[in-house]
This record gives sequence, structure tokens and C-alpha cells, in this order.
Amino acid sequence: MENQNKNKKRILSGVTPSGYLTIGHITGALANWVKLQDEFDSYFMVADLHAITVRQVPADLRQRTLDTLAFFLAAGIDPDKSTVFVQSQVPAHSELTWVLSTFTGMGECQRMTQFKDKSAKNMDNINVGLFSYPILMACDILLYQADCVPVGQDQKQHLELTRNIAQRFNHHYSDTFTSPEPFIPKIGGRIMSLQDPKQKMSKSDANENATIFLKDEDDVIKRKIKRAVTDSGTGIIYNENNPGIANLMELYSIATNTNYEQIESKFESAGYAEFKEACGNAVAEFVAPIREKFKDIRQNKSLLNEIIQHGKEKAGKTAFKTLRKVYKKVGFYQG
Ligand code: TYM
Repeated sequence: MENQNKNKKRILSGVTPSGYLTIGHITGALANWVKLQDEFDSYFMVADLHAITVRQVPADLRQRTLDTLAFFLAAGIDPDKSTVFVQSQVPAHSELTWVLSTFTGMGECQRMTQFKDKSAKNMDNINVGLFSYPILMACDILLYQADCVPVGQDQKQHLELTRNIAQRFNHHYSDTFTSPEPFIPKIGGRIMSLQDPKQKMSKSDANENATIFLKDEDDVIKRKIKRAVTDSGTGIIYNENNPGIANLMELYSIATNTNYEQIESKFESAGYAEFKEACGNAVAEFVAPIREKFKDIRQNKSLLNEIIQHGKEKAGKTAFKTLRKVYKKVGFYQG
């Protein structure tokens, strides 16, 4: 596989193991990773360094690292085609972050909406890591010279910062980093909370009813969708001003592979209750095979460990190549 990947363009992406994965992780990220893994030389990581910007229980973090990896595989990532690894196992991520933090303005980090949101939610722990997190994310991408980064809408601003840092460094020294393009799906790039459809669906929402987790059983999914907050309208018509029903239509569209026109005509005479029931059934059917595959894979700890070990070596080699180049450019003594 290594040789076959040689002439391909490269992608990199990751998930932070700070909670259970949600349907948004599939629609915004993993589904596209799976589609792209044949065409690109692909690197997918469990971003555990990112997770500790918010306090974690160590044993839980270790378990969720394996859970996240198992969900990658359950969603269709093939470790024979793609390099799958755990971020903290490749020290170059932390090392490059120091160097590129000297190429990032305080104001740039201050402008990140995710920093503003997260610090508002964690008032008792607004740490420097939370602030500089986008620099670490930029390094994740730049270390692998990724051409393209498949992510959800919420990561767009971080990608812009990544491009700025890359261009600034390249301009100051000489061409070193590839400037990456984001790949954000039009449908599924921003799935909203079921309880507050103006907010993104999040794995760390305190209200479990707001989120469809990939571990949820069918009856739980159906119940959550039945209880989803919708506006006071009646018809099943796609309109961004009715974010509750628009979100459910988006989920239904993904789960059944149909477009909004088809949905509108199918449910022309239906009310919200009927549509919610159909949507619950469709989403449950969509999630079930991923959940069941996950349960199977998650039990196979030796397989997961083998993949992690292989990923560490492969990712480590690629990342170290870039880091060495950077150290040379900035003038660190190499012996
Ligand atoms: P994270 O773990 O929050 O989310 C992982 C991926 O899932 C997407 N996503 C969503 N897409 C649509 N609707 C949603 N409700 C939804 N929730 C999450 C995210 O956009 C993301 O693509 N910082 C990153 C992880 C990361 C990373 C990277 C990503 C670390 N280094 C380098 C790409 C490249 C994060 O916390 O994503």
C-alpha cells in the first residue's frame, strides 16, 4: 500500500476523544474520510493531545481513545489503505507546536470562535492550551503536508488559521509547508442539537437528549428524535428559518440518501409527528450497522493495538521528516 500511495495527494483529519462520537462525526467527517481514502494517501488520528484542554478522567480517556479508533473502523476506514494513529504517540506534534506558536499572533487565537465558546463553557479552567489549541491543530495538518482536510463546518476557521501560519512560515524562510484546503460537505457539515437547533450537536452537551450518539440503541434514537425541539410550523418544507425541522430533514436526507425535494413531496400531507417517526426509523437504521460493527471491533483489543503500533511508526516517520526540515530552516543545531 505504501508504494501505491506514493503519488497520491494527501489528506489528514482527526477526532478528539473527549466524549462518545455522535452522528455529526459521521456526516461531517468520517463518511467523507471513507469516500476519500481510496483516492488519497490518508492519515486519520485520535487527537488525544487536544482532549486534555478540558479535564479528563485518565482511565476514561484511555478507553475513549480505543472507542474512537474502533468507530473509525466501524464507519469504514480501512487500516490497510489509511494510516490510523494516536496523536500523543507521535511527539513531533508537540514539538512543531512550539515552533509554530512563534509564528502565530495572540490576536489570531483570540478570534477563534471555538475558543470563545469553550472558554465560556469552562470558566473555571481557561487554560493556555485551550487558547493555543488551533496551533496544535495546524501542526497536525502541516506535519503531514496534507493537501486537503475533510472536516465539519465548525473547523473551517481553524483551517484558515492553518493556511495563514503555513504561508507566513513559507514566506519567512522558503517553501516548507503545503497549504491545505478544507473539504466540508454541503449536507451534514453542521448537524444541530436536537434540543437547541441553533447550536451544533456536540459530544459534550450536558443534555443527552440533544445528541444522537453512535452507541445509542434504536429505541433511544427514535425517542430522541420524537422529542426533538421543532418550531411552531406544520409542513415538511426545508427552510433555514425553521432550524429544528431543517435539521431533521438533513438527517433524514443523509440516512435515506434522498434530497429535500424528494422529502417534501413524500411528506407533502404529513405533520411533524409523522415525519419525526419516519426520521427516527431512518436514522436508527443508518446508525445500527455502525454501532453493531463497533461492538465487534471494540472487543478485539489486539487488533486495535496492532493498528495503533503500525500507525505510530508510519505517522512518526512522515511527521519526523517535516519536523527535521523545520528545525533546519529555523537554525536549530543538527550536529
Ligand atoms: P471534533 O472531535 O470536535 O470533531 C471531529 C470531526 O467531526 C466534525 N463534527 C461535526 N460535523 C457536523 N456536525 C456536527 N454536529 C459535528 N460535530 C463534529 C468536526 O467538524 C470534525 O471534523 N480539533 C478537531 C480535531 C482535530 C483535527 C485535527 C481535525 C485535531 N487535529 C487536524 C482535522 C485536522 C476536533 O476537536 O474535532
